[in-house]
Amino acid sequence: MKKQMFAAAARRYDFLNTVISLGLHKSWRRWCVRRLGIGGLRCLDLASGTGDFALELLKGGAESVVCADFCPEMLDIARRKIGEGATFVECPAEELPFEDDSFDIITVGFGVRNFEDGKKCYREMRRVLKPGGRLCVLEITGGGGLFGVYFNRIMPHIGNFVSGTKAYKYLAESVERFDTPEEMVEKLAAAGFRTREIKKFALGGVTALVCV
Ligand SMILES: C[S@@+](CC[C@H](N)C(=O)[O-])C[C@H]1O[C@@H](n2cnc3c(N)ncnc32)[C@H](O)[C@@H]1O
Repeated sequence: MKKQMFAAAARRYDFLNTVISLGLHKSWRRWCVRRLGIGGLRCLDLASGTGDFALELLKGGAESVVCADFCPEMLDIARRKIGEGATFVECPAEELPFEDDSFDIITVGFGVRNFEDGKKCYREMRRVLKPGGRLCVLEITGGGGLFGVYFNRIMPHIGNFVSGTKAYKYLAESVERFDTPEEMVEKLAAAGFRTREIKKFALGGVTALVCV
């Protein structure tokens, strides 16, 4: 069901990301890549979608980038944008088709909130990340104030209208249901990750966790 929703939203996903983040989403991923310091490393971009995180990793000097996502329509767009620069793997985050200790870096942009079994996905990330490797999770974590008013009352109408889907009503609801940054830190710790830095964007509505 969710897979179909992402497939339906794929074509207008990039445009809508720019509209609903007021043009800021690329700068958040860029901050993450700078913090990870990825030059010359093997990277996995999980829930890669249309590949914007992968593009930032390549710009940052990654040796290789694997874009993994369960939605082929999203991956098709990533493939068109990135071309030969990356490898594209259609797979669920719950069961990654990679050997243990395969990657130096894992990024997940706006993905973990959508995973059916988040704890299992965190364990899979730990398994395929080399000891000493680094993980960056970027996620919408919501919150009150101006961000809440915009995100819950205004954003879903714009998103649903432009995309012609119900995906953006789902987006607001999924953020409301999802973990706080503190709960994410706890679940990551249970899977073996130590959170080294927490950075807030968008009046606190978006959070990046940098973990080892
Ligand atoms: C909101 S998009 C984020 C795309 C991209 N990472 C970005 O930064 O814009 C979420 C992506 O997660 C993927 N996804 C959701 N659940 C998944 C799962 N269980 N396994 C693999 N991919 C999943 C969707 O197909 C979609 O492409």
